[in-house]
Amino acid sequence: MKTDFLVIGSGAAGLSFALKAAAHGHVTVVTKGEIAECNTNYAQGGICSVTYAPDTFEKHIADTLVCGAGKCDGKAVELVVRRAPELIGDLIAWGTRFDTTPDGRFELNREGGHSEHRILHHEDLTGAEIERALVESVRRHPNITVLERHFAIDLLTQHHLGEFVTRHTRGLTCFGAYVLNERTNEIETMLSKFTVVATGGCGNIYSSTSNPVVATGDGIAMCHRAKAITENMEFIQFHPTTLYNPGEKPNFLITEAMRGFGAILRLQSGEEFMDKYHPMRSLAPRDVVARAIYREMTRRGEDFVYLDVTHKDPAAVRSHFPNIYEKCRSIGIDITKDWIPVTPAAHYCCGGVKVDTNGETSIRRLYALGETSCTGLHGANRLASNSLIEAVVYADQAARRTASLVGTVDFQEGIPDWDFEGTQHTEEMLMLIQSKREVQQIMSNYVGIVRSNLSLKRAMRRLSILFEETEELYGKTKPNRELCELRNMIAVAYLVIKQGREIKESVGCHYNMDYPKE
Ligand code: FAD
Ligand code: SIN
Repeated sequence: MKTDFLVIGSGAAGLSFALKAAAHGHVTVVTKGEIAECNTNYAQGGICSVTYAPDTFEKHIADTLVCGAGKCDGKAVELVVRRAPELIGDLIAWGTRFDTTPDGRFELNREGGHSEHRILHHEDLTGAEIERALVESVRRHPNITVLERHFAIDLLTQHHLGEFVTRHTRGLTCFGAYVLNERTNEIETMLSKFTVVATGGCGNIYSSTSNPVVATGDGIAMCHRAKAITENMEFIQFHPTTLYNPGEKPNFLITEAMRGFGAILRLQSGEEFMDKYHPMRSLAPRDVVARAIYREMTRRGEDFVYLDVTHKDPAAVRSHFPNIYEKCRSIGIDITKDWIPVTPAAHYCCGGVKVDTNGETSIRRLYALGETSCTGLHGANRLASNSLIEAVVYADQAARRTASLVGTVDFQEGIPDWDFEGTQHTEEMLMLIQSKREVQQIMSNYVGIVRSNLSLKRAMRRLSILFEETEELYGKTKPNRELCELRNMIAVAYLVIKQGREIKESVGCHYNMDYPKE
């Protein structure tokens, strides 16, 4: 199959790119589940954009830089912050509805690390609203084909023409991808002029995560295997407040916007504790709050702290957070009267595949967008609600860039179809599930909110055993989604540990006890 633009992933990044690129050629979107199964669909708090005084671009830039703990790329920060209002306009044109006040202005949320109210939202279901609008627009577009239950396995490069390639091979180019059609179990060779990896994050390398099951880091792993450069992988962001509800997966998020609305973190004894850690208290940057909760919980041997919003007007609480209100009520918690038990969980990958300001990776004709990419916007710790806006800004940048080049490139000839020789269907499904759990345990036990040189070393040793076993199995198995995901999770976990061992300081989301920092 041939397509001008092959987009892997159907979240905010992939679909907004598709809608823009479709004006310049045929777009094929492949996605491994149903179209709306993605992190975007779960986003709660909202999407950042400077809208009204007293907010300014300079304040949004400063908040992003402070949160990123000195590791942001200034160019990326300027780009996203200054282009945000225009891209919000595109989302609205595609049909996204943001909440407004009675006088017709956008109602703005505030979250951790923000000096102003600047987060546009749709109730506490912003991501679902954005995804709905994007999906409807994509479904209507005559130049976009969406293929659900299509799992991208690997990217095509010169390697598939029999050439030896390294990360430093000049002119390393992407020609498309091998994609498993889960309906037929065939592996299709999809040739493209441009390939866009927008496969989201990797929360599922941890036992507790706010991410849906699709977030297994596939795109980052694929790009890494294709020899693209990845960076900042050690900066895995833990969300401070997910609902403590043992057994539930993924962890249900209690949006930071609730702290922006006035909710207070309390120990199980009822005592407030964030004043010991940061002048912004419960609204401090996310890494600070997550670490403070972790420290208080481990000190006391407790599994959760409380979030208290009971002092706020009950009607306002219900109308601002209808989804959270209903969810908590379904397990016997009335958030207008009861404190909410919360615990941190893996939430966001601040690093990823290194890209330039057009979203282009170190491999030609290969773009990475959204959570899969590392644009430099987030540095060592993402400012809340900066990721949806990053996804749509960079999708636009990439669409402009590829549109200007699409007339100059051709499809690659000579790429062989997938070679099934010597492989058979695996009988080892139970072992795959077990291995996935082991990856999650290794990461949660040794590469969590707080790490050490020893814990990282131990994690790497344990992971290398799983790596060897999985590669051996992969070599003799007809690919299936579970095995490919396991392989990808191991690759991404490896990058998190490896890059974490290379950095000799505690910064942002990477806290290593051997380099203590107040
Ligand atoms: P996703 O939306 O995750 O889409 C990835 C897509 O790739 C999915 O369709 C998936 O099925 C597909 N895919 C993955 N692997 C493959 C494969 N091998 N083959 C084919 N398809 C594949 N950010 C904010 O800015 N504001 C918020 O309020 C906010 N709240 C959040 C709340 C929650 C609970 C979570 C989990 C995240 C939140 N975030 C928020 C982060 C934000 O939602 C994500 O970073 C962002 O949506 C990522 O968009 P994306 O398009 O890059 O990836
Ligand atoms: C939240 O609503 O707390 C999540 C916001 C984000 O991850 O940016």
